[in-house]
Amino acid sequence: MSTDMAIETNALVKVFGANRAVDGVDLRVPAGSVYGLLGPNGAGKTTTVKMLATLLRPDGGEALVFGSDVLAEADTVRGRVSLTGQYASVDEDLTGTENLLLLARLLGHGKRAARVRAEQLLDAFGLTEAAERQVKNYSGGMRRRIDIAASILNTPDLLFLDEPTTGLDPRSRNQVWDIVRAVVAEGTTVLLTTQYLDEADQLASRVAVIDHGRVIAEGTKGELKASVGAGAVHVRLRDAARRPDAERVLTAALNAGVQLDPDPVALTARVDGHSTELGAADQAARALAELAREGITVDTFALGQPSLDEVFLALTDRTPDTEKEATA
Ligand SMILES: Nc1ncnc2c1ncn2[C@@H]1O[C@H](COP(=O)(O)OP(=O)(O)OP(=O)(O)O)[C@@H](O)[C@H]1O
Ligand SMILES: [Mg+2]
Repeated sequence: MSTDMAIETNALVKVFGANRAVDGVDLRVPAGSVYGLLGPNGAGKTTTVKMLATLLRPDGGEALVFGSDVLAEADTVRGRVSLTGQYASVDEDLTGTENLLLLARLLGHGKRAARVRAEQLLDAFGLTEAAERQVKNYSGGMRRRIDIAASILNTPDLLFLDEPTTGLDPRSRNQVWDIVRAVVAEGTTVLLTTQYLDEADQLASRVAVIDHGRVIAEGTKGELKASVGAGAVHVRLRDAARRPDAERVLTAALNAGVQLDPDPVALTARVDGHSTELGAADQAARALAELAREGITVDTFALGQPSLDEVFLALTDRTPDTEKEATA
């Protein structure tokens, strides 16, 4: 076991009744990086993180954090990790400042040092103006930021961020991403769980895609993208009768699978963007030109980033089953 690995798991298992929530997960997370754990609702992301953070006991396999076993050396592990959960854990009735001061004192900072650290973090996270407001009056983005601030009062060697931006608007997501980058620049390893491919793309150097408690793909972002393609072009035709022709033309032009959407005038084609010198947008433009040459009128088109659905289609030939109760 090497300590330049922040996390090493071997055949890690967690069972809830008949449900194998984590079903033999092998992970290697190099120290100093952001590692993305990507998967749909119920994939087993939080369960995996909780075992690594010593909050849940594994039912099988082993998990090492900086070489220490999460069961046999739980105290050592706890001393080196910090967890920002999927749901905010700060005290609603306290202000931003009060929350950070309280936690800093609990972590053993002296009065003065606690105040300095709290002010520093509030400033870094753009919360100075909201510092004296009760957290229950914070917006979702502010809450997420104060929660992350609370988890890095002491700079941890390994920070677990469980879906740090779910439900945030684009501006707040960008702010959280900047925070994550700053934390990593300080030398902290981050294990980031997310349902968003673009988030993993923005932050993580390596990614594991997890589904039904198993890792179904692992690699660098480049490797993952190469397996998925650069995105998809969505096309709406003027005339539904021309759809079979459009399907043929797009298949030939893009050399990739074309999907017929439920809407009878719409098609979606995968754009590779890696196997040729042409970028995704150029390939899409060329395919649209082919449609025009065949006299097929396109009313609207859009070039989209690959979604998590498309990742799953590419990796498993199916879309993820989303847990109804989890998304309700
Ligand atoms: N304490 C528990 N008791 C029983 N079942 C649980 C418990 N915690 C999680 N599960 C189940 O384990 C599976 C994995 O859940 P987990 O929370 O790890 O998923 P997730 O990938 O974090 O999903 P999400 O994206 O919705 O947060 C799910 O089927 C879930 O219902
Ligand atoms: Mg979760």
